Amino acid sequence: MQFTVAIDGPAAAGKGTIARAIAETFGFAHLDTGLLYRAVGAKMMMRGRGVIVPELAEKIALELTEADLERDDLRNARVAQAASKVAALPEVRAALLEFQKSFSKRAGGAVLDGRDIGSVICPDADVKLFITASDEVRARRRFEELSRKTPDTRLETVKIDLHQRDIRDASRDVAPMRAVEDALLLDTSKLSIDAAVAEAVALVKKRFEKA
Ligand code: CDP
Repeated sequence: MQFTVAIDGPAAAGKGTIARAIAETFGFAHLDTGLLYRAVGAKMMMRGRGVIVPELAEKIALELTEADLERDDLRNARVAQAASKVAALPEVRAALLEFQKSFSKRAGGAVLDGRDIGSVICPDADVKLFITASDEVRARRRFEELSRKTPDTRLETVKIDLHQRDIRDASRDVAPMRAVEDALLLDTSKLSIDAAVAEAVALVKKRFEKA
């Protein structure tokens, strides 16, 4: 059985939590595609000494391994910024395309979350969700998440990171973040995490039972 769920949306809208819950509920494999760009961004910062060099970023993307995705420093705001910069490079996106496409076709079902899943990676996905939340709610959620690991995280810095990335991600020429026409929109601003997950699971269930 092949069944693909595509989840997109801006930074810290709840995509990851929802994707993991869907994967667990339906037994699907899950790919957090943001990790691919974060891993390339992190390596680019190190090897380019802070400068983004397109040819080197492409090479890093082509050579990415599972171990690169397991680094525990990929979640911070500096890496997120570098991720969104390398994500705007067509050569980096092209280098990561096939891996994501083939993951989405796994037997047993797959759920992928990112920015271009419904538009580029899985245009034929069985379910497409676009998860949003207000700027304030997203910043607070990410602030709480980062503060657990890094207590001196500042809300203002988190707000700036999300805002800059949203603008860059939505305005780039290649695979910009957008809600495709056939995506189901889910605004999680006023929902608890449990309620947001329950709503997303119910949306997938409707389609899954028909498949
Ligand atoms: O967790 P959060 O929503 O903050 O970010 P993420 O999903 O880990 O993605 C980090 C960055 O990678 C984003 O700001 C995008 O620039 C980029 N990205 C992308 O361009 N396309 C994707 N499919 C996933 C992430």
